[in-house]
Amino acid sequence: MTDHRLAIIGGDGIGPEVVDQGLRVLDAVEQRHGFTTTRIDFDLGGRRYLDTGEVLSDETLAELDDTDAIYLGAVGTPDVPPGVLERGMLLRIRFAFDQYVNHRPVKLYPGVTSPVAGLTPERCDFVVLRENTESVYAGAGGTVHRGTAAEIATQESLNTRHGVERIMRHAFDLADARERRHLTLCHKTNVLVHAGDLWWRTFHEVGEEYPRVERDYVHVDAACLYFVTQPERFDVVVTENLFGDIITDLGAAVQGGMGLATSGNLNPTGAHPSMFEPVHGSAPDIAGTGVADPTAAVLALSLLLADLGEHDAAADVEAAVATWLAERGDASTGTVEVGDRLVELVSS
Ligand code: IPM
Ligand code: MN
Repeated sequence: MTDHRLAIIGGDGIGPEVVDQGLRVLDAVEQRHGFTTTRIDFDLGGRRYLDTGEVLSDETLAELDDTDAIYLGAVGTPDVPPGVLERGMLLRIRFAFDQYVNHRPVKLYPGVTSPVAGLTPERCDFVVLRENTESVYAGAGGTVHRGTAAEIATQESLNTRHGVERIMRHAFDLADARERRHLTLCHKTNVLVHAGDLWWRTFHEVGEEYPRVERDYVHVDAACLYFVTQPERFDVVVTENLFGDIITDLGAAVQGGMGLATSGNLNPTGAHPSMFEPVHGSAPDIAGTGVADPTAAVLALSLLLADLGEHDAAADVEAAVATWLAERGDASTGTVEVGDRLVELVSS
């Protein structure tokens, strides 16, 4: 029987609560699909940092590297200054493990109310692939004359042919495997002429190898408009890191809210583990009250299972979520009750 080694990072706030429900669902699908997991708990996040002064040591990183996938809840506590956990933990893992694809589905499930009036599930089912290691996130730049009237701050966008080409290939592969075979490049080539040129040429050069995939292009500002007015325009969207960060929050809103938005930070080569997380944060205001919605965390589990090659289990988990969303209506349900129902659905 296959055993998968999983790193579990519950994190802060509602993170551990939602991950616990995901793990209950995992217990249920393991039995049905004949595989096992060895789960290794990692105590990481804001609380850990405040207690010990440590965000993520090299030793811990090496231990994480020795797993097949990472399941993350959320990190962040109000007393930790901005940037400490973001750069010190989340981005450190993404970069160290070369998780160069951030895979974020934008899918309106039946029964979910979108804030876009009249939007139906048929019109909203696409995936945003966000480059996850470069652009302004690479951290290039600096400040001189800080605190004076002459202060200068630069924040540079790094784009390499290697980095753009590898996500492009991944994007064309994904588009080619989907029914519509349609890939949209989202950038701002009319203004960002240097980076835009690299992205544009790489898109079309790699695209020549995928004759079945139709190519389209939108500027990032127009993408914001179309995400709302014409989401049916999109099948797979590929974009750079910062644009991807921004438009996927909009995508989350369109598909019914952060409680449903999920993501995989993928290293498609398998050289290091990929990391799966709900897009939402640690929500300290509702932590411990038992009302956090674990749905996005359970959808992240579905992405994780697919990454491990457990495709039937992944499909069962997503189907259970879809059924649950269709039946729940507008009533709000507690964290554990949602978990109960999802366990029942994947077991039936
Ligand atoms: C996300 C988050 C992160 C990002 C932050 C927390 C570093 O907003 O996963 O979208 O900007 O990528
Ligand atoms: Mn974000």
